[in-house]
Amino acid sequence: MAKTNTVFVCSECGAVSPRWLGRCPSCGKFNTMAEEPAARPAPSGAAKSAARALPRALPLAQVEHKTYERTSSGISEFDNVAGGGIVRGSLILLGGDPGIGKSTLLTQIAAHLSKEHKVLYLSAEESCSQVKLRAERLGLSSGGMLLLNETCLDGLECELDGVEFCVIDSIQAVYTEDLSSSSGSVGQVRECASRLMRIAKSRGITFFIIGHVTKEGALAGPKVLEHIMDTVLYFEGENQENYRILRSVKNRFGNVSEVGVFEMTDRGIIPVTDYSGIFLSESRGEEAGAVVTPARTGNRCMNVEVQTLISATSFGQPRRMPLGVDYNKLALLLAVLEKRCGVNLGSFDVYVNVMGGIRLNEPAADLAVCAALASSRFDKPIDRYTAAFGEVGLTGEVRAVSYAEKRVAECVKMGFKRVFVPAKNMKSMTKYIDKIDIVPVLYAGTMIKNLFK
Ligand SMILES: Nc1ncnc2c1ncn2[C@@H]1O[C@H](COP(=O)(O)OP(=O)(O)OP(=O)(O)O)[C@@H](O)[C@H]1O
Ligand SMILES: [Mg+2]
Repeated sequence: MAKTNTVFVCSECGAVSPRWLGRCPSCGKFNTMAEEPAARPAPSGAAKSAARALPRALPLAQVEHKTYERTSSGISEFDNVAGGGIVRGSLILLGGDPGIGKSTLLTQIAAHLSKEHKVLYLSAEESCSQVKLRAERLGLSSGGMLLLNETCLDGLECELDGVEFCVIDSIQAVYTEDLSSSSGSVGQVRECASRLMRIAKSRGITFFIIGHVTKEGALAGPKVLEHIMDTVLYFEGENQENYRILRSVKNRFGNVSEVGVFEMTDRGIIPVTDYSGIFLSESRGEEAGAVVTPARTGNRCMNVEVQTLISATSFGQPRRMPLGVDYNKLALLLAVLEKRCGVNLGSFDVYVNVMGGIRLNEPAADLAVCAALASSRFDKPIDRYTAAFGEVGLTGEVRAVSYAEKRVAECVKMGFKRVFVPAKNMKSMTKYIDKIDIVPVLYAGTMIKNLFK
């Protein structure tokens, strides 16, 4: 390996040390020192003043107008999540659990792109023959796709002549000789990502970068990895189930609330365009504790089932276990139910689960969570053709939400008979009045009385 000239920098406070230390001497945090190349020598006085002589700041009106050139990946749902296609010269990070199908998805996209563009697939984790076997199994005609089995990023640069799209599988498996630490370390991941960013911006190459996620579900490597990228996508799903969800958590060229649904089959990953009903259970309506909510994902709405379970706490602190709903939001809704709606939950363990691994981050799901919790507490099921949506405030009042019309339209499409909507959204409901029973809700407490009287 080449002689390295590196320093170790604390990711918390920025303290610099010539060697690795377990504990930062400046801020006292443990395990925060990561390797970085030592600063390059500053330019000489003459070079500095020559550079300063040229004014580089421009008025906004004179800045050259450029539109983003977008290319289709061949998979409609992927394009949708990426904001309407892949922007040329951008960096797209695809994170996901082991074995979820990251390499499969990107092999399919690379094969499609290679029909018209020069595509390079850098496989640092698998051999070229493994990638070929996969492509054959998926029935891909990807004859023109270039394969490279290389772990050193310095060896990649000379292969990039004329390449328009490049897949890096994965960022944790590549390294640069500028640093002496092993591949996958914080310093290496950060340095490799910034190297790729410089190549992408200077040569106009689009990079798809695969990243592994840690046990906690975050992308392995420093947060700065996400800052460098233009688009950060997460590929998620239960391994046992065949459905996969592609979610955008950062996108410099599009909406981040868009979600793509895929099905993993032995012929590869297939986009699911009609996903109405896949996030609903067959037996809903039979047991207490479940209700459906029309959730917004980007420009679309889909019906998702919220399930809850309440059981008496055996000892100590009651447990709160939300999956798919924010912990703090659940605590807030429990307090509202207790204080404003007379639903006593203080001495019960509360479990919440959103079907299919969907995450309900929007406030519009509040009312459904409240309805499901009350149903579980009173042990009375909610009719399977009933849905609810609305934001619940601390006073128990139900606030208007966006996309109300689309949500009700989705319920009508799915054959629902009754939907609880915020009273303040009623104005936009006129055209659905004869198609579905729309119940306006001013306070969460009134909905609960209406449901369980
Ligand atoms: N022969 C096969 N037939 C059907 N499905 C297969 C076959 N081989 C692999 N798979 C599916 O593909 C998945 C692995 O896909 P892939 O290798 O793309 O995942 P990955 O996210 O890249 O994993 P890793 O983190 O290990 O790189 C497996 O979990 C399995 O569901
Ligand atoms: Mg892989």
